[in-house]
Amino acid sequence: MSCDPCSISETASYPPIKGADHLGWGMKNRLSRLIGPDGRCFYLPIDHGYFLGPTRCLERPGETIAPLLPYADALFVTRGVLRSAIPPAISMPIILRVSGGTSVTGHDLADEALVASIDEVIRCNASAVGVSVFVGSDYEKQTLKNLADIVDLCEPFGIPVMAVTAVGKELERRTAKYLALACRIAAELGARVVKTYYAADDFEKVTEGCPVPVVMAGGPKCETHREVLDFVHDGLQKGAIGVNLGRNVWQDAYPAAMMRALRSVIHEGLAPDQASELYTELAHSEKGRV
Ligand code: 5RP
Repeated sequence: MSCDPCSISETASYPPIKGADHLGWGMKNRLSRLIGPDGRCFYLPIDHGYFLGPTRCLERPGETIAPLLPYADALFVTRGVLRSAIPPAISMPIILRVSGGTSVTGHDLADEALVASIDEVIRCNASAVGVSVFVGSDYEKQTLKNLADIVDLCEPFGIPVMAVTAVGKELERRTAKYLALACRIAAELGARVVKTYYAADDFEKVTEGCPVPVVMAGGPKCETHREVLDFVHDGLQKGAIGVNLGRNVWQDAYPAAMMRALRSVIHEGLAPDQASELYTELAHSEKGRV
């Protein structure tokens, strides 16, 4: 870390994100740990077990993420996995998942509640929290109220809330029209960052209609690594600030190569062609999963 006063004044406008000028110091400090000086971010989510149980390749989360952490900017995780699998000396910011209470075997994934208190968020030293909203579901009002409630609890402590625009099992809902609606509502209710899906058509309508930064999730595993690099690159061109990608990273045959290639697209401006070459090169030296 530099002690040069010039470098301090250069960082005075951090974080370089939409709508951050009026924020208090604590909120700005947390956001600046979550969003880089280039305005971009790369989050690694390992929260899937909260409704999917021991998800493929995430059976032992600590082992899965150890080779991936050098390439991530933050970890999205539940308190249970945080305590059991993440070393407390980690310097990486933690985004704590605080909604849940459902499972893939239950009646409706949307029927979520808040599952951690503000005391717990602070005890875990979370840099942010994540909560799902299910717009258009039978539990729309309940999950939007969860969001508003956690915003009220976190804002006095300068802790940003990331809204997750979830679709449950209804993957066909991932259209720009629906996602724009869900993202805008989440921002209106106080989310500082909104996580949503990429939509191949009109994705810019999602980012342009949302007054806070938009981060892309991956969804179920794509067929090829190239598809992932392509959609991430396109989404960034259309206004997303980064990704929160899980299965398309740690279920890939070469997860560390995938992380490195994605990082090159997100933070280093590589085109998908170049990033794909980097992936192939690194995959040769990575002991792949069979
Ligand atoms: C699970 C989540 C995940 O964090 C999110 O879906 C990103 O993971 P993936 O890229 O695997 O979809 O919120 O509910």
